[in-house]
Amino acid sequence: MLIFSSNNLFYYFRSPKIYSKMINLKFNYDNALGFVSKDEILEYQYQIDQHFNSIYDKTGRGNDFLGWVDLPDGMDESLVRKIENAAERLKQKSEVFVVIGIGGSYLGARAVIEALSHHFNHLKKDGPAVLYAGQNISEDYMNDLLEILDSKDYSLTVISKSGTTTEPAVAFRILKNHLEEKYGIEETRQRIVAITDKEKGALKQLADEEGYETFVVPDDVGGRYSVLTPVGLLPIAVAGFDIRPLLAGARRMKDHISASSSIDDNPVSAYAAVRNALYNKGFQTEIMVNYEPRLFYITEWWKQLYGESEGKENKGIFPAGVGFTTDLHSMGQYIQEGLRNIFETVLSVEKPKNNYTVPQDDKNLDGLNYIAGKPIHEVNYMAEIATTLAHIDGGVPNLQVSIPEINEETLGELIFFYEMACAVSGYILGVNPFDQPGVEAYKKNMFALLGKPGFEKETGEIRKRL
Ligand code: PA5
Repeated sequence: MLIFSSNNLFYYFRSPKIYSKMINLKFNYDNALGFVSKDEILEYQYQIDQHFNSIYDKTGRGNDFLGWVDLPDGMDESLVRKIENAAERLKQKSEVFVVIGIGGSYLGARAVIEALSHHFNHLKKDGPAVLYAGQNISEDYMNDLLEILDSKDYSLTVISKSGTTTEPAVAFRILKNHLEEKYGIEETRQRIVAITDKEKGALKQLADEEGYETFVVPDDVGGRYSVLTPVGLLPIAVAGFDIRPLLAGARRMKDHISASSSIDDNPVSAYAAVRNALYNKGFQTEIMVNYEPRLFYITEWWKQLYGESEGKENKGIFPAGVGFTTDLHSMGQYIQEGLRNIFETVLSVEKPKNNYTVPQDDKNLDGLNYIAGKPIHEVNYMAEIATTLAHIDGGVPNLQVSIPEINEETLGELIFFYEMACAVSGYILGVNPFDQPGVEAYKKNMFALLGKPGFEKETGEIRKRL
C-alpha cells in the first residue's frame, strides 16, 4: 500500500528523467510532457548531434568564441596556482574586496560567491566581504561604497575584456584615486589586479603603465562564458572558496555530456530540445525558479547568459527569474493566471547545508503544530511540489534541474551544463549565441549624448531628437 507522506513525494518528484552516476545534476522534463510530446522533443536529435559536433570541432557560428568549451579540462596548473597566490595576497590585505566589472565580467563571480556565502556574510566577517562596483553608474551607490571603503582596508580587481567599457572604467578611476590617497602609489600597486585582454584596450595599457598584476581574458572566450577563467576564478578565490572543485565539477559535466548527445542520456540535449520544442508551441518566456535565496545571482547570471546569447534577429526565449516562495506572493499570481506563454525551470536543491526544524508549541496559538518537528527544508520542498502542480494545472510546463546540494563542485557542473545548453539551444534557434550586437545601440547614444570624441556626427543627430 502506498502511504501518502512527504517522503514518498520526495521520491516521486526527484525521480529523475535524465541522470547519471557520473554527475550530480539531474534533469527532469516529465512535467512538460502534457504540453509537448516526446516525439516533438526527439525531433531535435539529429540537429543536436550536428550542433555538438560543430561546438567540439569549432566550426559553428561564432566559432572564434568557443574557447570556453576547453576551460574545464584545459586549465593550466600554473595559472590556477597564480590565481590562488594572488587571491591569498589580496585576502591578507583586505577587510573588503571590490570586484569592478559589468555583465559577463561580473555576474559569474557574484553568482558563485553568493551561492556559497553565508547569507549575512557582511555581518559575520568571515574573510573579506566582497562588494561590487562598475555594474551601474549610480552616484549614490558610489558615494555609499566610498563611505564604507573610507574606514576599511580593501583591495580590488578591475575586470573588462575590452578594457573600454564605460561603467567599470568610471568606477575604477574613482577607486584607484581613492586607494592612492589612502595608501600611496606603491601600496596601491599591491592592492589592484586587472583582468583584461592580453594586449588590447585602455585597461591593459593602464595596468602595464602602473605595474599592476594582470590576468588575461582569453581571446576566444566571451564575457558571459568566462566564469571559469580568471574573470570568475580570482574573485571566487579571494572570497574564500576553492576553485579546484569548481573546475572539477565542470570537467565532470563536460566528460559526461561528451560521451553521448542522446536526448535520453544527455541533460544538455534534453534541456535544449525541450525548451525549443516549447518555444515553438508559443511558450516564449522561460522563468528560472529557485527556492533558495542564495541562488538569486545564479538566476541573474543565467538570465544574462541566455538573454544575450539568444535574444537577437527578432527571436529568442525571454529569460526571467523568480525566487520562491517570496515571489509566490507577487509574481505567483501572474504565473498562475496571466498570459499563457510561460514555462518554468526549477533549480531544485535536494539538501540544505544545515538542519533546523519547526518547533513544537504547547499553546499552538498559531495553529502550526501540524508541521512541528518537520525540517524547514521539507516545508520548503512541499511548497515546491505544491507550486509545480498548481502551475502545471494553470498551463505552465515545468522543467526541473536538480542538484544534491550547493557546493563548489555542483556549481561547476551547473555552470558548464547551462553554458553548453545555451550554445546548443542558440544553434537550434538559428542565431550566433556568442555575439551581442544589440548591446551597442545604447552605448552609441550615450557616447553621443556625453560628447565622446569621434561621436560628433551622432551627437548632432541625437540632440535634434531631444
Ligand atoms: O557577455 C558579454 O560579452 C558582456 O556582457 C560583457 O561581459 C560586458 O559587456 C562587459 O564587457 P567588458 O568585459 O568588455 O567590459
